[in-house]
Amino acid sequence: MALNTLRIQQFRNIVEASLEFRSGINLIYGENGSGKTSLLEAIYYLAHGRSFRSSKPEKLIRYEQPAFLLNAKVEMAGQLLNLGLQREREGELRMRLNGEDLNRVSELAQLLPVQLITPESFRLLLGGPKERRQFFDMGLFHVEHSFYSLWSKLQRVLKHRNALLKTQKRYNDEYAYWDQNLASLAFELQALRQRYILALDAAVQPLLVDAPWASGLTLQLYSGWPDRIETPEQLQQLLQQNFLQDLRLGHCQFGPQKADLKLKVAGQTVEEVLSRGQLKVLLFALKVAQSNVIYNYGHKKPVLLIDDLASELDDNSKRHIFSFLNTINSQVFISAINTDQVLPAIPDVNPALFHVEHGQITIRTE
Ligand SMILES: Nc1ncnc2c1ncn2[C@@H]1O[C@H](COP(=O)(O)OP(=O)(O)OP(=O)(O)O)[C@@H](O)[C@H]1O
Ligand SMILES: [Mg+2]
Repeated sequence: MALNTLRIQQFRNIVEASLEFRSGINLIYGENGSGKTSLLEAIYYLAHGRSFRSSKPEKLIRYEQPAFLLNAKVEMAGQLLNLGLQREREGELRMRLNGEDLNRVSELAQLLPVQLITPESFRLLLGGPKERRQFFDMGLFHVEHSFYSLWSKLQRVLKHRNALLKTQKRYNDEYAYWDQNLASLAFELQALRQRYILALDAAVQPLLVDAPWASGLTLQLYSGWPDRIETPEQLQQLLQQNFLQDLRLGHCQFGPQKADLKLKVAGQTVEEVLSRGQLKVLLFALKVAQSNVIYNYGHKKPVLLIDDLASELDDNSKRHIFSFLNTINSQVFISAINTDQVLPAIPDVNPALFHVEHGQITIRTE
């Protein structure tokens, strides 16, 4: 999978750009405020139907314009797909694939597995469980066909059960019905997640063999309920026993919606022992490992978007990160202020260079 061409119109400060990308590394450089993150944001939008910077789509439309448009040619399994997205200030997102309307964003997300790394991606290691859950579930989404329907069913059950907590203050048959559903979905999802984390673990270890600070790295999945619970029936019982607490807090305390990934080196939680630079290298390793798992098991080539690669990294760490990028055959987009922040670390690679200035993007050949 690769993004061959992209046409952007009226997106953030980009009036219009028609770009052809390389299947390897594409380096986007320019001064602060020139439009680098906006270009990565447009690619991300194409794959998710939403931005990573703002939940309000109208913020992405260039000031005083009625709509933005994105058109791309995406190469997938030897086929060339035409993808088009349009967002007006008022109104819905319109998505078209090869001239036909797409109705659901999940259909879009299936096409383009995109992994994003920004300076805020640190949240994956330093933030709460939600970030990590979203991270491994994104990988699962591309690897396991049954994941999305399981996950959707789970959201439905949780929605009903949480709504019930507002109106029914006594445990009754209705709760028992939802709890039984929740418990059986929980064990199905847990089995998928466990298998996925094993694959992720196997993919991340070789990337970090040369990093002494990462020796003894372990990835452990927390299911969302205590270890002593071994069957769906036991989980259902626990949900019932814990009912009063759920009632007080307004939502369900145990279940796959509470899962987490615990990362440790030599038995210690990574955020407590690793330096910021080391955490950043670990973060890259996890994202690259996830790309490799998606490639090997999901048979899709993810696109990697790396915003502001150089911040907080010394030359050694940069080289280490680029050595990961050599192990994947994904298409990569990297933004930096200038080419000197990146090119010396990749002497053997010849990336495509895009210079961004006041929203104008030009390809450079030097
Ligand atoms: N809806 C919009 N319409 C027009 N311009 C916008 C809109 N939203 C943001 N901008 C402007 O777009 C410019 C590009 O922002 P962007 O974040 O892409 O820059 P950048 O190159 O990533 O900068 P940095 O190096 O500081 O991260 C900024 O000057 C910003 O003020
Ligand atoms: Mg930026």
